[in-house]
Amino acid sequence: MGKKNEIVMSGIRPTGYLHLGNYFGAVKNYVRMQDEFECYFMVADLHSLTTHPDTKELKANVHRVLSENIACGLDPDKVALYCQSHVYETSELYLYLNMMAYKGELEKTVTFKDKARQHPDNVNAGLLTYPVLQTADIILHRALYVPVGKDQEQHLEMARNFANRFNHRYGEVFPEPQAFNYGSELVKVPSLDGAGKMSKSENQFATLYLSDDDDMIRKKVMKAKTDSGPTEPGSVKPDYIENIFLLMKLVSTDEVIQKFEEDFNKCTIRYGDMKKQLGEDMVRFIAPIREKAESIRNDETYLKGVMEKGAEKARKSARATMELVREAIGLKYF
Ligand code: TYM
Repeated sequence: MGKKNEIVMSGIRPTGYLHLGNYFGAVKNYVRMQDEFECYFMVADLHSLTTHPDTKELKANVHRVLSENIACGLDPDKVALYCQSHVYETSELYLYLNMMAYKGELEKTVTFKDKARQHPDNVNAGLLTYPVLQTADIILHRALYVPVGKDQEQHLEMARNFANRFNHRYGEVFPEPQAFNYGSELVKVPSLDGAGKMSKSENQFATLYLSDDDDMIRKKVMKAKTDSGPTEPGSVKPDYIENIFLLMKLVSTDEVIQKFEEDFNKCTIRYGDMKKQLGEDMVRFIAPIREKAESIRNDETYLKGVMEKGAEKARKSARATMELVREAIGLKYF
């Protein structure tokens, strides 16, 4: 599947260290898509300002996200890998789209309600219009596919609405962007405490970061919530046990998974052994990415080159779209 002339776009906020959810929900797909499509992947630094006004760590975080993406296999020669703030056209499109986004629908967005609850003293207009900026990122390249995790589903639905509204009002400029995953469903990597998903800034001990050292990985996995095991053959797994199996499916071999499935069904499972195995398999998965990312991060000259080249490619595509947008809106007076 896939044709080079179909366009892919996605982004990650530089608000902390990348984790297993970012990898399996997003970056893993990016790496596969880079050989099949025309791809634009960015560090969403403007979005991070909606919740992280203090920018002391921004530069280090931007470098970190870029390095981790490259360490996971993204090739800056194959894709446009860039920073959102370097593509000024994004802000212009964001402004036009804001005239088509209604207060009521923005206030109903789940991520807006969550963030407003978490930071009641900073419910700013940028936070309210976060999905509008995300739409601008995507349709600026007239992208068709957007590789994201399950938590971004609603934002993608809004992006489709805004794109359609623009087309309806001013004429057909944008395709309808779709959330994308190579499997059949969007991914949600659960947190280790059995509650919610892995996340960059919440509950850091229940999240496995691509930068965690080996001992930290083992320690976090061993602390994952379990119980004394099933007492009847063929029992249904509680959510937190299901989550451990789910994590195992991401990094362990089929034989290992099958063994623990059988042990569970026979009520002979030992969760201590299972977590030990999962810890080792996680270390084997994460350690090479961590080491590679560290060496890339230390090469600031290389990263500067990546950002410059990425911005150039992204702006070329952005400029072409904005010509069409201004024309369609009627902002051409001579
Ligand atoms: P962000 O930075 O929160 O997350 C980056 C990507 O990682 C995915 N993800 C997960 N997937 C599975 N399980 C998890 N536990 C998990 N946690 C995070 C997210 O779904 C996402 O794909 N609003 C976006 C950034 C953005 C963007 C865009 C995305 C800005 N502009 C344009 C796509 C297109 C965000 O906050 O992602």
